[in-house]
This record gives sequence, C-alpha cells and structure tokens, in this order.
Amino acid sequence: MTAFTINGRRVDVKADADTPLLWVIREHLKLTGTKFGCGVAQCGACTVHVNGEPVRSCSTPLSEVAGKQVTTIEGLAPKGDHPLQKAWIAEQVPQCGYCQSGQIMSAAALLKKNKKPTRDQIKEHMNGNICRCGTYNKIVSAIERAAKGA
Ligand code: FES
Ligand code: FES
Repeated sequence: MTAFTINGRRVDVKADADTPLLWVIREHLKLTGTKFGCGVAQCGACTVHVNGEPVRSCSTPLSEVAGKQVTTIEGLAPKGDHPLQKAWIAEQVPQCGYCQSGQIMSAAALLKKNKKPTRDQIKEHMNGNICRCGTYNKIVSAIERAAKGA
C-alpha cells in the first residue's frame, strides 16, 4: 500500500511501487483528465503537480509520491474556474484537447512561481509540452491573459 494525498483526498493505493503514477491516477483512482502521450517524459500530456512542482506522471513511480500531495487537473480549482482555465476558454485554446490538461498544469506551475512572466519566459517554460494541433500561440496568449487577471 502506498498512501498519498490527491486533490486534497488521502488515498491508499495497492499497486507495485514502480507502477507509473499516471496509471495509478487513471486506472486506480479513475481520474482521466491526465493523459498518456509518449510514456517517456517527452510530451507533457501527463503533467501533474507533486508538492506543487510539475512532474511527468508517466515517468514517476508510485513510490516517489508516498506521503506527498498530488494535484491533477481535476483538483486545480474546485469548480474548474482557475484563472488559467477561464483564460483557456476565453482564448478558445483547445483543438482536439488531448494535450491541454498537461499544458494547463505546466502553466499553473509557472504562474505559481512567477505571477507576471514575460512572453519569452512563458515560451521557455512551456517548451516541453507538445501540442500536435499547434495551439502554441493561443496557449501563450491564454497564459498572458491569466497573468493579467483578465
Ligand atoms: S506521456 Fe508523460 S511526458 Fe508524454
Ligand atoms: S489540442 Fe490537440 S494535441 Fe494539443
């Protein structure tokens, strides 16, 4: 059993210690907002926060989150109304949507550390999150909008 907290709820998960956190989140805890893209820490679709830091859950073993706080897209804001989520809607960012929860989780980690990032800082931070639909410009605009509190 591995105990940790996810979106404010304490859970005990029975799975091998080396099970990827992504599978625990999706299969054991049925939180399917976090997506599988590459499985090798190269695309960012599986990004969640562990103790507030963005991590690639596909490449994080369950053992690494024992006793820690995990946040997924479902727990980012209680009503899905995080400033980034509002900005994402206002800017109509998603196309297919597959990469977007990972994009938002990465962006949320940036804004937590840097409330007014420059365009270059946003691009640099978001560099590891791939979008096959090419929504990059809209992602940057949405992050700028959220940072302005618009
Ligand atoms: S699925 Fe984890 S980084 Fe691509
Ligand atoms: S919106 Fe389709 S992969 Fe990003």
